[in-house]
Amino acid sequence: MKKLNRLTALCALSWLAANAGAAAPSATPYLLQKDGRHALIVDGKPFTMVGVQTHNSSNYPDALGQVWDAVRDAHANTLEIPVAWEQIEPVEGKFDFSYVDTLVEQARQKQVRLVLLWFGTWKNTSPQYTPEWVKFDNARFPRMLDKDGKVTYCLSPHGEETMKADKRAFVALMTHLKKIDEARATVIMVQVENEVGTYGNARDYGPKAEAAFRRQVPPAVLAHKKPPVAGAAAGTWTEVYGPYASEYFHAYAIASYIEEIAKAGRAVYNLPMYVNAALRDPLEPMAPWKGNFASGGPSYDVIDIYKAAAPHIDVAAPDLYASDSDRVASNLERFQRGDNALFVPEMGNAPVYARYVYQILGRGAIGVAPFGVDYADYSNYPLGNKLTDKTMVEPFGKIYAAFRPMERLWAGWALEGRTRGVAESDARKPQTMAFKDWGVTVSFRQWQMGEQPESADMKDIPAGTESPSGGVAVAQIGEGEFIVFGQHARVKFHGTGANAGKPAMFARAEEGRFDADGKWVMQRNWNGDQTDHGLNLTGRPTVLRVKMGTY
Ligand code: DGJ
Repeated sequence: MKKLNRLTALCALSWLAANAGAAAPSATPYLLQKDGRHALIVDGKPFTMVGVQTHNSSNYPDALGQVWDAVRDAHANTLEIPVAWEQIEPVEGKFDFSYVDTLVEQARQKQVRLVLLWFGTWKNTSPQYTPEWVKFDNARFPRMLDKDGKVTYCLSPHGEETMKADKRAFVALMTHLKKIDEARATVIMVQVENEVGTYGNARDYGPKAEAAFRRQVPPAVLAHKKPPVAGAAAGTWTEVYGPYASEYFHAYAIASYIEEIAKAGRAVYNLPMYVNAALRDPLEPMAPWKGNFASGGPSYDVIDIYKAAAPHIDVAAPDLYASDSDRVASNLERFQRGDNALFVPEMGNAPVYARYVYQILGRGAIGVAPFGVDYADYSNYPLGNKLTDKTMVEPFGKIYAAFRPMERLWAGWALEGRTRGVAESDARKPQTMAFKDWGVTVSFRQWQMGEQPESADMKDIPAGTESPSGGVAVAQIGEGEFIVFGQHARVKFHGTGANAGKPAMFARAEEGRFDADGKWVMQRNWNGDQTDHGLNLTGRPTVLRVKMGTY
């Protein structure tokens, strides 16, 4: 963690506080990188997206009512929602932005920011969202060929006409957005395509692709991506990358295609842009593609290739649909890099995912959103929740509601490296977070009073902790001063570094919230039974301002 001194911490806090409520003039959002950490800057200040993503078919004016109801119940500050190529250009060259206009107008009324998902050439690798005039014209918009020369379902990234047509539509969208929204920045980010890559084939085997595959690996790729097994320092894809050649080549082809589109879009309106990934198993030992994930998509092993080929894409972002805590932790680890901000644009909307919000925000992510949060009466179980009503939204909504008053302060702290977070693991074991001169240990399934021994009868546990549901995010805002935000957890502090071995106690443990000006408002100070056994957070997400001291 960056060295803190009290003065810097307090200055930073008061700067953030002073700026949090000010009606800053709107400026185009951008992604700020500082010392390998990141912040999304919205209206000139750091902003944390606590968002939701709609179902895939909610991108029509008449469907928006049931979207906004869920956004309200989720207390989300950001809505991620598709804009489909088929809907804005149903007839070639004739654009219809009426849905986009309605969406942006309603988002402003609801005071919700938008992340637009460009469903173009690829949506979950398929051309299903392209207009009909694209879908069925294989001659002009070629599909990939398999090894036997058979046409596959997936559009080829080597299709120049496809790329030109997608680019033209995307540029039209960005031009329209600039016109209607530049002054307001309702739309703060754009996803280019959706979960790209290919199932069933490692790459395109059509004549253009074959010719490109036999060419030399471009220097930018060589500079970014080391071969996982010994290969030539330069040469063809096969010479350099051996058994990984097909996947890497395909990733390069798709990333280059996306780059063309993103670059042209940003040339007219420079919003931050990202791609989202259908993930390969992060726990499986590294091995060449064998049909087990979408080849060529921005999976963790090819982020470097996306960085090389697509500099106009800010972030490669993981879509979390494996709910076990080891996979979640590993995916977060792999996608959070100095050159790649952590952003989780999709995760399951089952209750088991809610606790990960603390881990994700604690890691300093620029945003997070469960998928399928609207009342369209569609359940994406088993990837997500069986339920489709308010009860599906509630586990996320209560966390977001508690977080929202500090959404900008938190983003500032994250940028300065002051935040950490944990989610209860499937093993349910205690976890420790390291801060300057303090450690914070979080344990789970404890009653609020007394210690639950390891051997305890686990039938006698607090309601709501039957399955892992705990999470805590902590920001160190000064020397021995912390914001603790969490649920279903016990939080204890101990001295480390300069405080190692010293007896410690709470100076204050104030429960409260930040007001609209970013000023802390205390509701009560926890003491006595409420601190004798650590800080015991129930299922109601709670924010505490804690001051520790030693004696
Ligand atoms: C990930 C995709 O990106 C989403 O659009 C959606 O299809 C989910 N999978 C599944 O619900």
